[in-house]
Parts: sequence; structure tokens; C-alpha cells
Amino acid sequence: MELPPALRTAIDRALTGRRAADLAKAAAALSQRYRDERRDGRLHVDTDEDALAYLTVRLPATYAAVRASFASIAQARPDFAPTTALDVGSGPGTALWAAADCWPALADALLLEASPAFRACGEALARDAPLPRATWRTADVATDAIDGEPRDLVTLAYVLNELAPEMRPALLQRLWQANADTLLIVEPGTPAGWQRIIAARTLLIEAGAHVLAPCPHAHACPLAHLPENRTPAFRKGHVATSTAPDWCHFAVRVARSRLHRLAKEAELSWEDEKFSYVAVSRRPPRATAARVIARPRRASGRVTLKLCRHDGSAGEQLFSRRDGQTFKRAWRSDWGEAF
Ligand SMILES: C[S@@+](CC[C@H](N)C(=O)[O-])C[C@H]1O[C@@H](n2cnc3c(N)ncnc32)[C@H](O)[C@@H]1O
Repeated sequence: MELPPALRTAIDRALTGRRAADLAKAAAALSQRYRDERRDGRLHVDTDEDALAYLTVRLPATYAAVRASFASIAQARPDFAPTTALDVGSGPGTALWAAADCWPALADALLLEASPAFRACGEALARDAPLPRATWRTADVATDAIDGEPRDLVTLAYVLNELAPEMRPALLQRLWQANADTLLIVEPGTPAGWQRIIAARTLLIEAGAHVLAPCPHAHACPLAHLPENRTPAFRKGHVATSTAPDWCHFAVRVARSRLHRLAKEAELSWEDEKFSYVAVSRRPPRATAARVIARPRRASGRVTLKLCRHDGSAGEQLFSRRDGQTFKRAWRSDWGEAF
């Protein structure tokens, strides 16, 4: 996935005159903090340099994951046309750019962010950009109330992992109250990220939410109930470590800029961003029979899809030419798509 040209231009403008070596150093330190899932009371992005490093090495990936999640929402709810949005832990405004790309009727957004450096960076990116009217506020969403009328679209992308586990349920309740229609939560596609998504999904279903995506049902997650995944670590719900051999995640291919490659000392012109997400709504979605939850395995005349199904089951299914049209659809299906 490529960034929208206006966002690419805004990032290039922000990075003009910066030395690749300095960005690489800041990016390496930032990546290490994210990998460690460090929660030491410091914000990961605290300075202008941190924010620019994020634009270089993380924003393309988080944008792609959020935009892909929005595409699943749009498919589950073709009638959904949000005009107001709330993005919490907005960083440089990633979700605002992705929402404007997916739903051009979006007119007004409120962005809450703890880091003044990140907020300033996001406001600079958005200046003169083809975006909805946006209000940015510095806020600690772990504790602060969320004021104002509920908004059509609420997003929390790559933020849960930065909050202390005991803060998460109350924040999710506040977000559900602040949500007039659809709420999206995205996390890194690791076992720990998926566990945070599962815990959020359970809490929101209990609060009355309908699940839009990726799950084609609101039953308990079938992967979480595989015998080998029923570890004590999983049952505690919020615990960040897991021995789970399987977890629900997706991948999106992201183009790397020249600076991105330099900062990561990478040769490839792309990377695969793995992410987990859940989208819930106050309104029921269009029924989906199943979702493809792993990369399809194709061989001559056969394709095996790993499916999560409407009845709450999950497993592999083989399709061959004998399945006619269904085979053709299965052959064309990709990881993450509704089937
Ligand atoms: C990994 S960044 C994600 C940024 C953006 N949502 C994205 O997807 O690119 C996590 C963001 O959450 C913010 N954050 C973390 N804890 C927060 C808190 N207690 N209140 C508000 N924002 C917070 C961080 O400052 C950072 O901007």
C-alpha cells in the first residue's frame, strides 16, 4: 500500500534537511522501545526527532494497517458514511488521513494526544492538506474524560500497548460511550497484541457492541479456544506474554521510502506490517459467511483457505476445481478478506 500523495508530500516536507544518520539513530531507539513494549512512564515519542523518526519508519505501516481495517469496515457496512470522528492517541494523525481517504464525507475530527511533540508534528503535516476540519488536544486518555457529543467513527490505533493494563477497561468503556456508530481498535499483529484485542472485543460485546470485522460472528474467538492456546497467560486476558501458537492477525505490504530503507538499513523496497484489529458498531453489519485468516495455500487446481466462520468455528478448508464457482472465488481470495 502506498501513502496518499498529499501525505507523502507532507512527510517529505517535514523531513527536508534532516540527516539520514540522525533519523536512523532516533528510529533505532524508537523501534527498540516498541519491540520491548516498554511502559516506564515516558512517552515513546517525546521530542521532535522522535516524531520525525516515527514518520520515517512507523507511519507508513500504521497508516496501511488502519486503512486496511477501514476497508473491512466499509465492506461490512456499505451504508456507513461518518461525518465526525474521534481519534485517541493520534500520534501524527495517522487515522485522520486514513479516514479521509476511505470516507470523503468526513467533515470534522477531534484528535487527542499526550505528546506535545507528536501533536505539533501532526498539526504541521495536516496544514494545507485536503483533510476534514481537525481539532487537536493534548490529553492523557488513560485518565481524562472524553467531552462532547458522541462521534460516528472512533479510533484507537497502536495505543493500548502503551497503556498500563489496569487502565484499559475504563478507557474502552469511555470510548464506547464516545462512539455514536463504529469503533476501531488496532494493535501490532503479535500474540500479545491479539490478546489485547480479544480482551477489548469481549468487553465491548458485553457492553452491547456488534462485531463488524474481522470476526464474522460475536461468539468467543475460536482461536483463543484451541486447546493449545488455553494457557494460564491467555486466561488472564491482559497479560502481554503468550505461548499461543496461533493468533488472529493480518498483514499489509507497505512501500518503503529511500529514507525508510536507510534508517532501517534495509534493502527491500517494501515490508509486511502485521496487525490485529477489531471493529465494533452500535448497528449490526451485513452478514459475512467467513473471513480468510491466513495466507491461502495454492497448488495446481486446489486452494486451502484458513477460515473463521459465521457459526464461530475456525479451520482449514480445501477447495478444488470440482467446487466450480466457489473454487474460483476461493482461488482469488486473499488473507484478511471476507469470503
Ligand atoms: C504507536 S503511537 C500510534 C499513533 C497513531 N495512532 C498511529 O497509528 O500511527 C501511540 C500513540 O499513543 C499516544 N499515547 C500513549 N499513551 C497515551 C495517553 N495516556 N494519552 C494520550 N495519548 C497517549 C502516544 O503518545 C502515541 O502518539
